[in-house]
Amino acid sequence: MPLIVDKGLGNTIAAETTLSFIDGVKGVLEYVGYDIDSLARYSTFEETTWLLWHGHLPTAQELSAFTRQLQSEYCVDRRLLDVVRAIPRTAAPMDALRTLVSALAHFDTEADDPSLAANERKSIRLVAKTATLVALFDRYRKGKSFIEPDCSLSLAANFLWMLTGAKPTAPMARALDVCLVLHADHGLNASTFAARVTISTQSDMYSAATTAVGTLKGPLHGGANQEVMEMLVEIGDISKVDGYIASKLARKERIMGFGHRVYKAYDPRATYLKTFAKQVAADTGNLPLYEMTRRIEEIVLAQPNIVEKGIFPNVDFYSATTYYALGLDLDLFTCMFAASRMAGWTGHCIEQLAANKLIRPHADYRGPHGLTYQPLDQRGVPETSSTSPSCSAAMSVTA
Ligand code: CMC
Repeated sequence: MPLIVDKGLGNTIAAETTLSFIDGVKGVLEYVGYDIDSLARYSTFEETTWLLWHGHLPTAQELSAFTRQLQSEYCVDRRLLDVVRAIPRTAAPMDALRTLVSALAHFDTEADDPSLAANERKSIRLVAKTATLVALFDRYRKGKSFIEPDCSLSLAANFLWMLTGAKPTAPMARALDVCLVLHADHGLNASTFAARVTISTQSDMYSAATTAVGTLKGPLHGGANQEVMEMLVEIGDISKVDGYIASKLARKERIMGFGHRVYKAYDPRATYLKTFAKQVAADTGNLPLYEMTRRIEEIVLAQPNIVEKGIFPNVDFYSATTYYALGLDLDLFTCMFAASRMAGWTGHCIEQLAANKLIRPHADYRGPHGLTYQPLDQRGVPETSSTSPSCSAAMSVTA
């Protein structure tokens, strides 16, 4: 078959999936056939995770058994707390999360068991523990003591409890839960693709999840929600929105929270969040912030060249203010995206393994050919001479 160059893989189908469907032209997202709007309105993160993994909605009995399984896995091994304490307090939470998700493997005796049953158990652990890890790291970096999980709570409510030490109100827990539902899966997005590449080598679930966290971190992917909030903080007041956005557009800079590789229509996750975020903002005294986002949207969508390119607000644009209203630090936003997307990553890994083929595309080599190897002593004198390297005191391994 002739090979074609498809930079960014935007015209390549690299996997088959039954988890989620996206129609980027019409602005549709479905999880296993269910419209994202209905799921955001009526489902919960626990039920949505079950749906993604099992391909159908659970019965009441299945859902309560599954919820109990997740709750029983909120705790982490005590030794993992030492790993948390070994991370510099100044580390970015997404970097800490990458380390901690990887470290989970060391305390799971099934880490290298490739059976489907073990992978399903590890998926439950990964989903249950990711939010816990985020809360643990945040408390540690602020010099606060760790809080034991409350295994009677939903994953969203337990996260807020472990983060703040206060039981969240039902609307607060629901607001986070809605964000978790909306972010749980999204076709072959960059981090899911990365997870599938890793598991396709027959590596393990923890390695795939770690790969995915690292990939999600980037500002063009999961990191955009933090950048949206940073932009709002930088603007500061609705009276400054017009000038700020105009000068950004004049400099041809990207407006974070707008545009999507697949959606050339309004991101259906943003459609729901837009209304929902307003309610959350009103309930928490953050309406001025919400009004700023609405004004940004108005200005951006009034630019003919932006709309022609199919650029609309994406999920990150309105999730940012929702997370902020819940009291989350800005650098935790992407971690919440990871805690939710863990459901999709693990589901995709199991799907990949069910009909596995090593994912290994080609590169279009653009360098020279046929060069003659020159021995080192014939390559000329280096411009700067260097002294022998030595360990810095901080890196020294001697006692
Ligand atoms: N603001 C202004 N112009 C934009 C934006 C934006 N946010 N996004 C794309 N464009 C322009 C871009 O400058 C380019 O213009 P031109 O053709 O004149 O050079 C054109 O649109 C196409 O851009 P692209 O980068 O080739 O398109 P892409 O499909 O590779 O980009 C994207 C997708 C998400 C990387 C991009 O829209 C972007 O950088 N958005 C801001 C970051 C962001 O909000 N990311 C979160 C995505 S949603 C969460 C997730 O699912 O990961």
